[in-house]
Amino acid sequence: MNARPPVITVDGPSGVGKGTLCQWLALRLGWHLLDSGALYRLTALAALRRNLPLADEDRVATVAAGLDAEFVAGADGAMRILLDGTEVGDAIRDERCGAAASRVAALPAVRVALLQRQRDFRRPPGLIADGRDMGTVVFPDAELKLFLTASAEERTRRRYKQLSEKGLDANLKNLAEEIAARDARDARRTVAPLRPAPDAETLDTTRIGVAEVCDWALALIARRLALPGIDQA
Ligand code: DC
Repeated sequence: MNARPPVITVDGPSGVGKGTLCQWLALRLGWHLLDSGALYRLTALAALRRNLPLADEDRVATVAAGLDAEFVAGADGAMRILLDGTEVGDAIRDERCGAAASRVAALPAVRVALLQRQRDFRRPPGLIADGRDMGTVVFPDAELKLFLTASAEERTRRRYKQLSEKGLDANLKNLAEEIAARDARDARRTVAPLRPAPDAETLDTTRIGVAEVCDWALALIARRLALPGIDQA
């Protein structure tokens, strides 16, 4: 029996729908939510604001270690994120920040600097952890590990829709190239590359909607975690 609060990890490439599933699961179970990508995006934004070259591993890692970031969950599951005491809003959501995040995330010292901060999100009654290495590196002892995939075309389409809905600048062709470059960097880096944990449950979401993805996850949770109020489908 694990005395620590339970964790469910959700990993996968950009635009696969992890964020939507994780927000839904956190609300449904009443658990905490870790958006680990936001920590890499905030590190990138803080480094850019300080005019640091993103390849300067020591200085970017110092920024990561001292990151003054706060996550405040709203009643609807949406998260307000503050950097240096000021709400960042969509400043971390555009592809420029995503690409910068992917670059700083490839620096080993940055990953080390953020490791304990991510583990500190594990609090009762439980944690839903969204990222790339949640099941492999950050929470290898998670109770349940999920890994989502989808075709590159479908992920580009979803990210385009998401950005357009937020009123953020998006060009389909550029986005496809940026997402491909980001995925390649996230999957090929030497530290914590994007890959499913050997004990992860994988789902290809290319042709299925959000509701089915949520049902799939909930059925696995019911089978594997025996939580009050979560019945086996
Ligand atoms: O999930 P996201 O798009 O917000 O993540 C932004 C970048 O951060 C992504 O390109 C890869 C990196 N990242 C990572 O390396 N490890 C994580 N656990 C989460 C994100």
